[in-house]
Amino acid sequence: MSETKTSSKSNLFWSFAVLILWLVALGATWYLFQKGPSDELKRFSIFIGRFHVILIHFPMGIVGLLALMELFAMRKHGAHLHHSTRFVAWVATLGALSSSWLGYVLMSGEHISGEWMTWHLWTGLGVGLACWGALFFKLIHLRVLSLLSLLGALGLTAAAGHYGGAMVHDGDYLAEYAPEPLKPLLGLTGGDSEKKTVQAASKPLPNRIVYTDIIAPMLEAKCVECHGDKKSEGELRLDSLEAMLQAGDSDNPGILPGKPEESEAVYRVELPKEDSDFMPTKNKPALTPDEIAVLKWWIVAGAPESKTVGDLKPEAAILESLKKLP
Ligand code: HEC
Repeated sequence: MSETKTSSKSNLFWSFAVLILWLVALGATWYLFQKGPSDELKRFSIFIGRFHVILIHFPMGIVGLLALMELFAMRKHGAHLHHSTRFVAWVATLGALSSSWLGYVLMSGEHISGEWMTWHLWTGLGVGLACWGALFFKLIHLRVLSLLSLLGALGLTAAAGHYGGAMVHDGDYLAEYAPEPLKPLLGLTGGDSEKKTVQAASKPLPNRIVYTDIIAPMLEAKCVECHGDKKSEGELRLDSLEAMLQAGDSDNPGILPGKPEESEAVYRVELPKEDSDFMPTKNKPALTPDEIAVLKWWIVAGAPESKTVGDLKPEAAILESLKKLP
């Protein structure tokens, strides 16, 4: 009797210890990145942070296992499972706390932001807390609260997994190959940018608005999936003229009107493909030489928002490039 008492006391002690350690680790990470981290720190954070992607599957599975064990433990024949749930709750908690912290390190190191990132962050930290709650209430024998926390952990795991997936793939990853009638249910409207291009292509070339009909669809097709409202890599958005005139992480504006040589976007797309700063990343389809020529031509002309091709009087070479655009 006294032996179990001591063991559950030390269990309680350790549960608080890991919770505090987790909070301190999160706080310290936040603080280090708040101060403007060195390059070494960034690199090291990305290095260890990337293990988040591997480690994360572990608590996800264990949380599911714990829920199953609790479910079967409620049945007469499953009563023996009851004794093991505390151990499994510990493993789930340690896994969820450590992998959510690693996720935070990765987010800070890679400077990831955007709507999906925010949801993924809070649901992910929520899983850590909910697992801890399930363990803690189990240790103080509040069974109902423990089960409720576990239910919360399950729901948050699904949500965090969904947002995490949306960040890595596109937001419509699940819906993309759904049968047509199901698509609206899954929130996929699709086809918008395609429609715009079709409209633009039906206008005679001189009447096309350079930004709206040519530059915007080009960036939309090749850059905005990583530089839009859902995901803004490098703190740079390329989905509106106003946004691309701002500086991202590098402190250089994406586009500097009149000065292609000082526009970070031009610099990045003109690098050799094997350069680690080359855009787009991940071997996504790159801008063609014609697209780059047109982009630079528009910037030299002052990156106007509503001037047409005719207004900007392209020389023969640019006219050729314009005709060759997809
Ligand atoms: C698959 C995702 C992806 C695509 C597509 C992509 N980028 Fe990026 N981009 C990133 C990431 C990640 C970063 C941050 C890391 C870095 O600075 O290299 C970044 C950073 C940048 C930056 C630097 C911002 C700053 O100030 O630090 C520019 C400029 C940029 N991208 C331009 C483009 C352009 C132009 C395109 C389209 C031709 C494009 N990107 C397509 C992922 C992408």
